[in-house]
Amino acid sequence: MVKPVIEPVIEPVIESAAPSNNSDNSDNSDNSDDVTHTAHRQAAIPTPQGVKIFRRIEWVLNPVAYLERTKTQTPDFFVEDSLGFGFGPIVVTSHPEAIRYILSRDHTKFTSPGEFNSILSPLIGDSSVIMLSGDRHKERRQLVTPAFHGERLDVYGQLICNLTKANADKLTVGEPFLARGLAQKLSLETISQVVFGLTDSHRSKEIMAVMTKMLDRLGSPTSALLIFFDRLQKDLGAWSPWGRFVRLRQQLDDLVYEEIRDRREAALHNLDAAPTDILSMLMAARTETGEALSDKELRDELMALLMAGHETTATAIAWAMYWVHKHDDIKDRLLAELETVGPDASPMAIAQLPYLSAVCQETLRRSPVAMFTFPRVAQVPVEFMGYRFAAGTTFLGCIFLTHQREDLYPEPKAFRPERFLEKKFSPYEFIPFGNGTRRCIGAALAQYEMQLTLATLLGNYQFRLADSKPELPRRRGVTLSPSRGVPMIFEAKK
Ligand code: HEM
Repeated sequence: MVKPVIEPVIEPVIESAAPSNNSDNSDNSDNSDDVTHTAHRQAAIPTPQGVKIFRRIEWVLNPVAYLERTKTQTPDFFVEDSLGFGFGPIVVTSHPEAIRYILSRDHTKFTSPGEFNSILSPLIGDSSVIMLSGDRHKERRQLVTPAFHGERLDVYGQLICNLTKANADKLTVGEPFLARGLAQKLSLETISQVVFGLTDSHRSKEIMAVMTKMLDRLGSPTSALLIFFDRLQKDLGAWSPWGRFVRLRQQLDDLVYEEIRDRREAALHNLDAAPTDILSMLMAARTETGEALSDKELRDELMALLMAGHETTATAIAWAMYWVHKHDDIKDRLLAELETVGPDASPMAIAQLPYLSAVCQETLRRSPVAMFTFPRVAQVPVEFMGYRFAAGTTFLGCIFLTHQREDLYPEPKAFRPERFLEKKFSPYEFIPFGNGTRRCIGAALAQYEMQLTLATLLGNYQFRLADSKPELPRRRGVTLSPSRGVPMIFEAKK
């Protein structure tokens, strides 16, 4: 049964398909009020109500309110050109069928241009896997992906458990701490080990400290304005918001380039050593034409993996701690399951526990870290769910709204891990890590980290939430994070 075919997005999207330099769209006119031929034909897929500049501000300062509003106004699809990504109107969808169509064809009918992710370039440069497109993107993914799978995960398992214990042992009984802070330390140490193969060196500790400071600077919704309004990215000295950020980034770059230089020198004397960390692997790699990666390319890749690899995971672990300690029955069931494998269980045995997995999945469902997938662009006219879209149309899968769909997840606001034991969700219904050609490279590592950290913390220590105030999702850079960082009390070691 095909609905009448309409063309919700036409010429304007094609015209603006290339990323514009003026990503803050400072033209404040409200396109939703334009009574033009185009707007008339777009009627079937509306733009959220309100003046464009105010929508943009709401989206930056309170993305959850913005997204919830679009859900009630325009279920399944909406068209928006004020998200600040800088490439014109985007069709945003939260319907699994549309998401399946887009992501399962993103290597044939769609592209996923790296330059469309340029909002991240002040943080990670422009030559990492996230920013590359086409064959170069494919080649880089093939290079980096093995470090996050199979045997390598075995190696990281014990490391994650040890790091968790070492850091939890430093907590003082009775003192409050922020679960997000603890999780950030753990996930940064883990990803540093994966990327650099060292966590004890002075330099790696400095890298972690500067990176934490830099991301904290961009952590509040108001400082996120700097990311979304590129006109605010002005270095007006060391005390200006962007100036502070730029100086920290320079400090970080200096440290990373020093590490690259030392590694290059060490490699000259140690030619037979098999590379085990990503930096060594990237340095040893050659492109199809036999070229090695430049220092700049190495720097960008390292920054991308460090940033993508720890902020997100830390937030997910903090949410898991929150939800589990919010519900005693869930915590008790989890503890009972952990007892079935005992205190000396191997990391792999822990990761196979069904209820633990369900708790982590429900955490990623109820409190998704990423709100959207990366953009996909139709290369040819496409037709699905009764709509026809012109070539050049840009799409975003909305992870947040998909995970809030009542028809997929009854009582979506409830935290109910059982739903993942009762039903198998398709990779287009449950999409915390996206899918297709840009599916998250670190998905397996992130889930493994969540499971092992949660199991180690719950199995060896006792915690409680510091108070009964609710944690709400709040913008942290381009992600959503618990607004208060999950204040907890460390009660005892078991
Ligand atoms: C809970 C933790 C994490 C979440 C929720 C998450 C989420 C995502 C999402 C939604 C995407 C876009 C997928 C798409 O467009 O289809 C993505 C891409 C990516 N993620 Fe993650 N991620 C997490 C952890 C990690 C970790 C641990 C790493 C390790 C380095 C990582 C590295 C990347 C990279 C490199 C990409 C870009 C892939 C590409 O462009 O081909 N992420 N992630």
